[in-house]
Amino acid sequence: MTKSQQDVMVDMHCHFLPGVDDGSSDMEQTIAMLQNAAEEGIEAIIATPHYRNSHHCVSPEALQERIAAVREEAKRRGISVSLYLGNEVFYFNEIIEKLDAEEILTLNGTDRVLIEFAPSDDYKHIRNSLDMVTASGYVPILAHVERYECILNDYRRVNELKHMGVEIQINVPSIEGFVGRTVKKFCYELLNNQWVDYVGTDAHDDVKRIPKFRKCYRGLIKKFDPSYIEKIFYGNALEIINAE
Ligand SMILES: [Fe+2]
Repeated sequence: MTKSQQDVMVDMHCHFLPGVDDGSSDMEQTIAMLQNAAEEGIEAIIATPHYRNSHHCVSPEALQERIAAVREEAKRRGISVSLYLGNEVFYFNEIIEKLDAEEILTLNGTDRVLIEFAPSDDYKHIRNSLDMVTASGYVPILAHVERYECILNDYRRVNELKHMGVEIQINVPSIEGFVGRTVKKFCYELLNNQWVDYVGTDAHDDVKRIPKFRKCYRGLIKKFDPSYIEKIFYGNALEIINAE
């Protein structure tokens, strides 16, 4: 892709696969989400269905089948978006065993794993857990870092996590202020320090939690170093989807 296509973006956190989690409920909604994403200039998306140890989770094989069906339907409808597969894992003690056994999917088969915690989890638990993941040879991407109270209350903790090798993801609605002023301010502190590695939509449907991207990108590119903003909306995620 060339520089002139700078509005072309990659969404690395999205729940568009039909009927696998609390995201899209059926193929029609999935297609509506993809259509919306394409209109937003998103040209590649990594599906990140929730994986929770205590829940019944769809197997990687079934997810592969599901994404193949979505690709086919999108093609039939003339929607040009490339689709990749991963998981968003709710942290649990046996995460490494499950990753090693390929029962949980990394992002597009790379060493990167999208991991979430409960919003009220304490910082020590989050830090030590992520430390264990990096020690096991994976690169954890902390999903929507703005959601954890212990980090929201002390944004410098993000710096500590980054020094441990953790990558940081924030959600578009949080940057735009839809989750409140405190969260927006927190996101801007992180952006000012260039501590964010990825911006994702974390879209769940085509009505409320939709895949919006472009307005946020255009706003930020005027306020921050454009080459940094390009990296977090596009460049860093592109490395994941181009990895074989
Ligand atoms: Fe998510």
